[in-house]
Amino acid sequence: MRIMLYTGKGGVGKTSISAATGIQSAKRGLKTLMMSTDPAHSLGDSLGIKLSSEPTEIMENLWAQEINTTYEMEKGWGKIQKYITLLFTSKTVDDITVEELTMFPGMEDLMSLLKVLEYYKENKYDVIIIDCAPTGETLAMLSFPDMLGWWMEKLFPIKRKVLKVVRPMAQPLLGIPLPTDDIMGELGNVLEQLDEMRQILSNRDITSVRIVVNPEKMVIKEAQRSFTYLNLYDYNVDAVMVNRVIPDNVSDPYFQVWKDIQRKYKTMIEDSFAPLPIYYAPLFEQEMVGLEMLKRMGDTLFQGDNNPVSVKFSLRTQHIEKQDNEYIFALHVPFADKKDLSLNHKGDELIVRAGSAKRNITLPRTLTHLTILGAKFEEDILKIRFGGSTHE
Ligand SMILES: Nc1ncnc2c1ncn2[C@@H]1O[C@H](COP(=O)(O)OP(=O)(O)OP(=O)(O)O)[C@@H](O)[C@H]1O
Ligand SMILES: [Mg+2]
Repeated sequence: MRIMLYTGKGGVGKTSISAATGIQSAKRGLKTLMMSTDPAHSLGDSLGIKLSSEPTEIMENLWAQEINTTYEMEKGWGKIQKYITLLFTSKTVDDITVEELTMFPGMEDLMSLLKVLEYYKENKYDVIIIDCAPTGETLAMLSFPDMLGWWMEKLFPIKRKVLKVVRPMAQPLLGIPLPTDDIMGELGNVLEQLDEMRQILSNRDITSVRIVVNPEKMVIKEAQRSFTYLNLYDYNVDAVMVNRVIPDNVSDPYFQVWKDIQRKYKTMIEDSFAPLPIYYAPLFEQEMVGLEMLKRMGDTLFQGDNNPVSVKFSLRTQHIEKQDNEYIFALHVPFADKKDLSLNHKGDELIVRAGSAKRNITLPRTLTHLTILGAKFEEDILKIRFGGSTHE
């Protein structure tokens, strides 16, 4: 099975490109499911078809679904949720409502992840395409299996086995109701599923993330940042989709300046994401609504590519390692010309130049206040040593 996630800043075209990819995939005979995990669903609007929380058949080989988190949560989390409610109501919490407390951060994303796992196990589809909520939330969703494990350990520090022994004593002492065995069982079950999900999401032969951008400064900045963090979490980003490019044949003088600006930002996109493959979709003369328009979009986006759903790239382009008090930031930069290496570091921005090649990178937060101590190329990997701290 293949799992693809489309992510990017609000409004860049994630839903349209997800749907366009889904249609291309189905047309090639692959059983494809498109899922929207954004609570502000718009997949149905984009397709021009009313969707529900169960997969609806759109055309041959294509299904679409909008995850209903409340429903999924009641189905899968009933006991745990009741317990947490009990836990919090047993303490006096006046200023926050119980409903709010029982909503873990990122609960919706979690539900979506578990749903994907369910489909993965059933093996009913060849391809699952996930239309994500705007960038921030997606990153939270992808780090969720890790985060939840941590959170759960804090909330349920007493291991299940010990619990049987301590319950009679601990309950009055702690003044909180302790989870019963069936709740602990259910919890263990959820954690196990999340662990499985994490493995599927980080398997580079199965899952990849595609970043959608527009040729605009703020959009690209945000995309660079999420690219960095996706790499850090070791998720595979296999392509960048540039949407809303003004076509060459538009000659209206009004758009001339726009075209120049877009040209500049197209270069910035290449500098930021090479060696990832980059796909382009034009700004169409109308909205992307309905199967016909979305098919047109997919045809243009993937022209010359006979398998839009294959993994397009699978190397990890950045990672950090800690060595004593220093960090090694390793970058995959297959620059042909490795002469005259220069590094320009300011805040979270890093510009790498070697010969005529250039790369723009957003540094992870850990490194922004450190100084570059040295750098060297080993094969196609540039290893930059960070340490000390700047005086900013
Ligand atoms: N290349 C394009 N040409 C013309 N219109 C487009 C193009 N791409 C997207 N649109 C239109 O722009 C709007 C936003 O697109 P879309 O819903 O796909 O973005 P999104 O990234 O999913 O947004 P959100 O962050 O709100 O989920 C829609 O009305 C869509 O039809
Ligand atoms: Mg959307």
